[in-house]
Amino acid sequence: MNTRTEQLPSQSLSQPTVAKAPGKVILFGEHAVVYSRPAIAVPVTDVSATATITPGEPGSGVWILAADLPAPDGSPGGHCYGLRDAPVDDPLRASVELALDAFRHSEPTGADSPEPDVLVTITSTIPIARGMGSGAAVATAVVRAIGRHFGHTPQPDEISPLVYEVEKLHHGTPSGIDNTVVAYEQPVFFVRGRGITRLSVGASLNLVIADTGVVSSTRKVVGDVRRRWSAEAERYEGLFDEIGAVARLAKSAIERGDPNAVGRLMDENHELLMTLGVSSPELDKLVETARMTGALGAKMSGAGWGGNMLALVEAGRTPTVADALQAAGAASTIFSQIP
Ligand code: MEV
Repeated sequence: MNTRTEQLPSQSLSQPTVAKAPGKVILFGEHAVVYSRPAIAVPVTDVSATATITPGEPGSGVWILAADLPAPDGSPGGHCYGLRDAPVDDPLRASVELALDAFRHSEPTGADSPEPDVLVTITSTIPIARGMGSGAAVATAVVRAIGRHFGHTPQPDEISPLVYEVEKLHHGTPSGIDNTVVAYEQPVFFVRGRGITRLSVGASLNLVIADTGVVSSTRKVVGDVRRRWSAEAERYEGLFDEIGAVARLAKSAIERGDPNAVGRLMDENHELLMTLGVSSPELDKLVETARMTGALGAKMSGAGWGGNMLALVEAGRTPTVADALQAAGAASTIFSQIP
């Protein structure tokens, strides 16, 4: 890929358009959700992706500046490249092109030119490849910002299907839960193909989210589960049914505001994910540590084999649990209160 930094469009005096999108965690039902069982996910607003659209000089075309993300060839962040220099399956290129196709027709002038002249700058504080929805958040921020730049405020039901297309480039066979929770920015009870059910949260949930520091590819873990499911469908269908049942019970517990029950169900969900073969020694250690220091429940979150775990904690105990998790090897911890 060429990086043509010398031709970077110079900023005009026009106001840039800025849009944000939050991270997410899956509270219940990861993996089983790919097989149409229900799952629960919540946005995490403590981390976010930001896209900024700055008008460029006439004829400069679209440039992408991704400060915190790896380049399409996998090299570390800080890259600036022309849209058409990126491979067609580059998620940033796809996000920009999908958003332009969807929203550029409302541009008052210049819609017949092949590419608008803009710089799309993306920054993100969401850890990458840790199950926190970084890919979905970046795509959502880009789609929002481009829509607004062309005079349209994209609604969640417009954003989510576009981001789903980008998620396919990241993960192959996504369930659709990440794009849904990030685009709607609300807790969701999600069943693949059935649209969104908003979840009302009866009593705030205090989460400590701890990063194992281990990078994990959702595509690889989901692919591995699929291979094992193909070989032993009955066994895995049974496990997915059990995980789905836990997610349904969790929905009621969250709605009636019963954190003790939510915590117990998180523990149950973690045991099932261990049986499914998607946890890891690092995740299990942090989960155990959280329970020993008084968390109401704990589980891995997302695809597994690394990434993040969650502990549900009584409000006053979050620092104690977070300190214990750091001492047990967590690379970082985030507090998040839902809603
Ligand atoms: C990834 O955030 C969650 C998985 O269930 C995959 C998916 O739902 O697409 C592992």
